[in-house]
Amino acid sequence: MKAFITGGAGFIGSTMADRLIKDPNNEIVIYDNFCSGKMGYIEKHINNPRFKLIKGDLLDLPAVKEAIKGCDFVFHFAANPDIAKAMIETDLDLRLGVIATYNLVEAMRLNNVKKIAYSSGSGVYGDVGYTETPEHFGPLLPTSMYGASKLGAEAIISALCHMFDMQAWIFRFANVIGENQTHGVGYDFIRKLKEDPKKLLILGDGNQSKSYIHVEDVLDAILLVSEKTNDKVNVYNVATGDYITVTEIADVVIEEMGLKGVQYEYTGGSRGWKGDVPVVRFNLDKVKKLGWKSKYSSKEALTRSIKQMLGNKIVLNS
Ligand SMILES: NC(=O)c1ccc[n+]([C@@H]2O[C@H](COP(=O)([O-])OP(=O)(O)OC[C@H]3O[C@@H](n4cnc5c(N)ncnc54)[C@H](O)[C@@H]3O)[C@@H](O)[C@H]2O)c1
Repeated sequence: MKAFITGGAGFIGSTMADRLIKDPNNEIVIYDNFCSGKMGYIEKHINNPRFKLIKGDLLDLPAVKEAIKGCDFVFHFAANPDIAKAMIETDLDLRLGVIATYNLVEAMRLNNVKKIAYSSGSGVYGDVGYTETPEHFGPLLPTSMYGASKLGAEAIISALCHMFDMQAWIFRFANVIGENQTHGVGYDFIRKLKEDPKKLLILGDGNQSKSYIHVEDVLDAILLVSEKTNDKVNVYNVATGDYITVTEIADVVIEEMGLKGVQYEYTGGSRGWKGDVPVVRFNLDKVKKLGWKSKYSSKEALTRSIKQMLGNKIVLNS
């Protein structure tokens, strides 16, 4: 395949690039504006003739139209990485989530590129507590602009696929973690503890409870589901099926960093920031029917990703 990876210098996109380039039949074009992406994650491929990097913004439609020429499968990972920032910049997710996705699919339409895999998230379901949401759950009432932009992008992808004979795979991921993280709770805790190993400020009351899935499991799911399913728009939840709290995450980080006697301070309240969903539960029946199951539990994925981040200079020094 000739893959076009938006956000390919970011966490999940760069890991997907590493995976795809291993197959000599694949060519890769990365399209990234480096707002959170890191050159260090992809520079090892720069001299590979099957790899091309284009520095560009999805908000620049003529540039996307040019860049995507000749590609046959799009992996769409680019998005606003800072969910809480919508409190001070309310149109951020509208631009980087919705408009950027429209431009991408429009560029696909104009260049006859037919297939797209999109990384959506649990934010589309809103705050529904312990309800295990299946893919057909509704009404979908997001509580953040990030969640709203995921839902808006799903809708645009679906509409354009139906109107112009394209095909989409939409993945609603749990929290994704792994070596190349550029943000996230474990990543934040490592950074804070490197600065001050005596105390740790935890957003909320620490009881927020979610699924944390390793990026290797996520890539397996994307590749398996897109190979095994063939509807016009295929929507799948992807999570571990078990859950871990923020305080438990802090415990794992502290153990892996070999620290002792760290004092936890909580900002208080049930959620980390306005728009955060404190409890997320997924129904995974649909993806399990295809034979997919995560290799790692939430705790195993966390331990693995913390070890990987601690051993990776690019992650923590930039
Ligand atoms: N990491 C998670 O826990 C998680 C969970 C569910 C869904 N997702 C989704 O998966 C995707 C990838 O997430 P990630 O964790 O790898 O994020 P990331 O921030 O590491 O990567 C996003 C990449 O997109 C690039 N980018 C952002 N806006 C752009 C634009 N307008 N034009 C070109 N490039 C742009 C950034 O520079 C970055 O390299 C996102 O859509 C995210 O919403 C992530």
